[in-house]
Amino acid sequence: MGESLRLRSGRGPGEAPGRARGAAVLAALLLALPAGAEEFPHFDPDEVKLGQLLFYDPVLSGNREVACATCHHPRFGTSDGVSLGIGDGGAGLGPERRPDPENLPERRVPRNATALFNLGYPEFRVMFHDGRLEEDPAQPGGIRTPLGAEMVAGFDGVLAAQTMFPVLSQDEMSGHYGENEVSTAVRQGLLTGEDGAWARITARVAAIPDYRDRFAALQGDGPVGFTDIANALGAFIAAEWRADDSPYDLCGWLLHSKTFLR
Ligand code: HEC
Repeated sequence: MGESLRLRSGRGPGEAPGRARGAAVLAALLLALPAGAEEFPHFDPDEVKLGQLLFYDPVLSGNREVACATCHHPRFGTSDGVSLGIGDGGAGLGPERRPDPENLPERRVPRNATALFNLGYPEFRVMFHDGRLEEDPAQPGGIRTPLGAEMVAGFDGVLAAQTMFPVLSQDEMSGHYGENEVSTAVRQGLLTGEDGAWARITARVAAIPDYRDRFAALQGDGPVGFTDIANALGAFIAAEWRADDSPYDLCGWLLHSKTFLR
């Protein structure tokens, strides 16, 4: 109470009135304040680290050449610096990336790669430009996707679930039909189950001792599922590209704060 009175009047008992002092107190308070922290989920730092390694690892792509970061790179604002991304069948990074004449993509990725800032906020309930992935409590896994009944349950949220899709797309990550076991499974319509594309990607990851150890430390020695990979990727994206402490955000907090409007 005493503190808030001091703040409003800009001076404490026995202190000289001074706007500078009031402003300094206000600035110190604002700087100490994690804006919106109460709404932003907490992530286990070990899961975030694991997600970071996976995000930059081309092992998730059929031909082991494309990582999530190929199209969502921090150097290009978590996108790729081009209008339409080039995934499998490309070489180089960002605006330098070119289709490889020896292994041309079948089609251009038809949309611009979105930036990944602040997607961990619970207010983001819909993913993709056309909203084709959305929170929906009426669905068995709590998420509506174009996959309908093939959708797997166990994702921490829509951000994690989103990662199921780029790994299946031939021109983003899985590669041409027949080039590798993941793209072959996709073309045969095998997504779920032991022979499915997600299980094949997961088996690759789980065969790498460092990843196996990191998953075991997080969740015990049981089998790793694609949902675990997806949840780690989602945790990394959310934690890494959380950006809510700009002067603009602090002003927004100030305007909404009951403390200062009283
Ligand atoms: C070949 C480029 C490419 C690769 C590789 C790629 N993405 Fe994307 N990403 C895109 C494009 C293009 C979109 C927009 C697609 C749409 O809206 O239809 C997108 C959308 C997203 C979104 C949705 C963001 C939003 O606001 O709706 C997320 C999250 C995402 N990607 C994460 C990932 C992750 C994780 C990986 C790795 C597993 C990955 N991406 C691999 C190009 C790529």
